[in-house]
Amino acid sequence: MKVLLFSVAALLYLRCIGALRPEESALLREDVREAFHFTYDSYMRHAFPLDELRPISCSGMDTLGEYALTLVDALDMLALVGNASEFSQSVQWLAKNLDFDKDLTVSLFETNIRVMGGLLSAHLLASDESTGMRVPDYRGELLDIAHDLGQRMLPAFNTPTGIPYGAVNLKHGVAAFESRITCTAAGGTLAIEFGTLSRLTGNPIFEAKAKAALIGLWSRRSELDLVGAHINIITGEWTHRDAGIGTSIDSFYEYLMKAYILLGDDEYLDIFREAYQAAEMHLRRDPWYVEVNMNTGSVVWPVFNSLQAFWPGLQVLAGDVEAAARTHRAFFSVWQHYGFTPEGFHLNRGAVHDGQVSYPLRPELIESTYMLYKATRDPIYLAVGREMLTSLQRARAPCGYARVADVRTHQLSDHMESFFLAETLKVRPTELLPGRDPP
Ligand SMILES: *[C@@H]1O[C@H](CO)[C@@H](O)[C@H](O)[C@H]1NC(C)=O
Repeated sequence: MKVLLFSVAALLYLRCIGALRPEESALLREDVREAFHFTYDSYMRHAFPLDELRPISCSGMDTLGEYALTLVDALDMLALVGNASEFSQSVQWLAKNLDFDKDLTVSLFETNIRVMGGLLSAHLLASDESTGMRVPDYRGELLDIAHDLGQRMLPAFNTPTGIPYGAVNLKHGVAAFESRITCTAAGGTLAIEFGTLSRLTGNPIFEAKAKAALIGLWSRRSELDLVGAHINIITGEWTHRDAGIGTSIDSFYEYLMKAYILLGDDEYLDIFREAYQAAEMHLRRDPWYVEVNMNTGSVVWPVFNSLQAFWPGLQVLAGDVEAAARTHRAFFSVWQHYGFTPEGFHLNRGAVHDGQVSYPLRPELIESTYMLYKATRDPIYLAVGREMLTSLQRARAPCGYARVADVRTHQLSDHMESFFLAETLKVRPTELLPGRDPP
């Protein structure tokens, strides 16, 4: 199948992108801080301790659990914006009130990346004098809570393949009727948090289980060294054989590389090298990526989806900076076309994919832009950042930032994912100026 590329828009990349004045990046950074404080205050006033904010109606709701999700997810941002008093207070509140002894069935994947990750990074910040965020009288309570949470997640790993169930009940373990089908990303996105939990507690089981899950997936790869999208965790049979770098698979690749960087375990790097090489060979239609049948390599979906947008950042980590720049340029052309990236964009038609028209304030393309800027120092990426920030301001609602329900009309809907504060608005703790880097 021939893949027509949406390359006209890619050529318009430089349209409207003027260079940044030197003082401008510092001002833009203040805009991001303002967006953070405005939204954080709004969450605390209208939604906390519920999970997430409804930024149009100025209210809140529990979404993934009942665990003050947005606050837990955003703790490290309080540290990054330098707000030690609010960070301290939040850590102390969570140390006292967060309790996972609940008859509640939660997503293993989301609980791990947002809650486990939030607790562990906050613990590291709170317990270390050198971060400037040492919390007075802190005695590792968040680590104890994370350890308890980890133990409540362990029953999910009781499968013949080592690949975990997608959901677990925090009080009762895995329900008899729980689905045996999980997606590759859900089984392969645990190693960073579980590895950290093991290293900090001295309890090796978490790191071992997360690694076994990854190997359970990888050992079932196709002859092309590709993994599918969905797998039966009992039989190990792939139930959905589309391979790709986006939806359902994305962070499987990301975690192989980042787990290696964080934990120093060479096996992750070895798997990453093979997996990455195969993805570049079979999924890339330069500069885009498509979805192919994992066994035959034939194209199934010529689609860009917004979860693919982390890939240029990963390419930077893999040392493929030039390819990363090309991919980023293509993906950003979609952003420029609509002002946001739709969940799905059809490469043959050069149009939004039916039913995949929203932009839930995702961070992936922004992270890739940051990684490319760090690698190249090319000021074009600061200008890209400015354009993205301008776009995000269009999603500003009375009490926060709202999911864009349709990127064609910019109509908003009344929900803000916790990752908007935790990831999309991520700033770094020193001035974001060209040529200046923190030590
Ligand atoms: C810290 O955050 C709180 C809550 O948003 C705010 O009231 C306070 O002014 C902030 N302090 C600093 C130094 O930014």
